[in-house]
Amino acid sequence: MKRRTFLLGGGATVAAGGFLWANTKQVALGDLASRPKLSFPPLIDARNAGQFTLQAQSGQTSFFPGRPTPTLGFNQSYLGPVVKLAKGEVTAQVSNSLDMDVSCHWHGLLLPGDADGGPHQPIAPGETWTPVLPIDQPACTAWYHTHIHGATATGVYAGLAGGLIVDDGDDDARGLPNEYGKDDLFLILQDKQFHEDGSLAYDQSMPSIMHGFSGDTIVVNGQIGAAAHAPKGLVRLRLLNGCNARIFTLYMQSGREMHLIATDGGYLPKPIALDELRLSPGERAEVLVDFGDGRADALLSRADMNSGMGGMMGRFQRFGNYLAGSSFEVLPFAVKDEKAKMTRLPDQINHELASVGEVAAGRVRQFSLDMPMGPGRMMDGGMSRGGLMAINQRPYDMGRVDFEVQRGSTERWQIFANTLAHPFHIHGVSFRVISENGGTVSPGNTGWKDTVLVNQSVELVARFDQPTPPNLPFMYHCHILEHEDNGMMGQFLVV
Ligand code: C2O
Ligand code: CU
Ligand code: CU
Repeated sequence: MKRRTFLLGGGATVAAGGFLWANTKQVALGDLASRPKLSFPPLIDARNAGQFTLQAQSGQTSFFPGRPTPTLGFNQSYLGPVVKLAKGEVTAQVSNSLDMDVSCHWHGLLLPGDADGGPHQPIAPGETWTPVLPIDQPACTAWYHTHIHGATATGVYAGLAGGLIVDDGDDDARGLPNEYGKDDLFLILQDKQFHEDGSLAYDQSMPSIMHGFSGDTIVVNGQIGAAAHAPKGLVRLRLLNGCNARIFTLYMQSGREMHLIATDGGYLPKPIALDELRLSPGERAEVLVDFGDGRADALLSRADMNSGMGGMMGRFQRFGNYLAGSSFEVLPFAVKDEKAKMTRLPDQINHELASVGEVAAGRVRQFSLDMPMGPGRMMDGGMSRGGLMAINQRPYDMGRVDFEVQRGSTERWQIFANTLAHPFHIHGVSFRVISENGGTVSPGNTGWKDTVLVNQSVELVARFDQPTPPNLPFMYHCHILEHEDNGMMGQFLVV
C-alpha cells in the first residue's frame, strides 16, 4: 500500500499561534472587524455548459501570513471549485498534474459505477479521466474527493476535495436563498494541524489511526480565523464536514435556531428547527439561519463525541486530544446593513418524502464496523490480516467483491458500530434511516442520506438503481478516513 505523505513532514508541531480558539464558550464578537472576511470557493456553473474541468495540482496556500503551506487542490492550491450541476448529462474532465495517483469520487451524486470515481478508477499522473455524469436526482449539496485506497486520508487532508451543488431551478419558488456567496454560503468545515514553518502536520501513529486524525485548528473554506458576512435576514448555510475524523455538534452562540432544510440527498418536506446539529465526516446539511435582528453571532461546536476519555478508547488517547475539552469556535458571522433577499422562513419546502413505511422492505444485511480490540477481532488474529479495521471481520480487499445486490431492489441494512461512533457511507444510493439504536430516528436523520453516523446501531433502507460494471463495484465504508484507509470498507456490485 502506497502512502504519499510528502507534504506532511515529521517533527514537532505547534498550536497555530493566535489562531486557536479552543475552550471558548463565548467568542469576543467585538473583534470581528479585525478578522479577514471569509471567501468562498470559485463557482463553476456547469448547469448548461455540458462539461467542466478539474485539475489536481499542488501549490502553496497562505493559511498564515508569511508561512506558505504546501497543499493540494483542484484548479487551485487548496480544495477545489464548487461545481453547480443541473439535471442532464455533463462531462467532467478530471486531469492529474501530480506525481501520484488521485481519483475523483462524486460523493452524493447518484451515478452508475463507471462514473463513480472510487478506488478502482485511479487517474495516473499526467492522465485525464472524462466520465459522463448523467445527473438525475433531487437538488442537494454534495462533494467530490480523491478516493485512492490507502491514500484517501492524506489526499483529502492535503486538499483534494471540493463542493457540488445539484440545482433544480426552483429555489426562488420555494423561498430559499440561492445566491452563491451572498445568502447561500457553502462552508467546508475542516480541522488541521500545522508545523512551525506553516507546513501541514499529519500523524499516522496508532492512536491517530484508531481515533482518526484530528487537528487543533479549524479551517473553513481553507481559511483560518475568518468571519462570514451575512445580510440581514435569511441565510442558507450548506455545511459540509470535510474533516478526516472530527464529528461536529454545531450550534449558534446566541442560541439562535438553525432550521434544517436539507440533508445529504436533498430537501425535507419542511424546515426543522434545531438547537444543535450533529455533522460527521462526509455528511452535509443545509440550514437556514435568520440574521434579521442584525446581531453578530458565531457557529460553535461541542467537543468531538469520539474524543471522550471513557470506554475502550481510553487506552488510545491521542497526545493533545485537540479541541476536546469543551466548545470551540467554527465560524463567526458579522451581519451587514444590507437587507437579505429572503426574510421569511418558508413553512413548507414542498418536497415530498416517501414515507419510510413504503420503502422499508427487502432483504436484510448486517454490517459490523470492527475495530481491532472489538469483539472477535483480537482473538481471530485480525490485526495480522492486512488491515487494522474491518467490516464483518474482513478488512477491505480490492480484489474481493463482498456481495451483489439486485438492481432495482430495496434492501434493509443494519449497521453496528464497535468502540467508536462511525459515519457509514454507501456509494451510488440515497437511503433513509428507519431506526437509530433500536429507537426513533433523530430529526437530523429523517431525510435522504448517504452517510449516517452510527453510534451503536442504525437501520436503513436503500433502493439500488445505479448499475455497476463487474470491475467497478460501489464502496461502503466508514468515512473516518483513517478507518477507511485501514480496511473499514467493503464493495458490492449492483447487477
Ligand atoms: Cu466520500 Cu467513498 O466517499
Ligand atoms: Cu461516496
Ligand atoms: Cu470508523
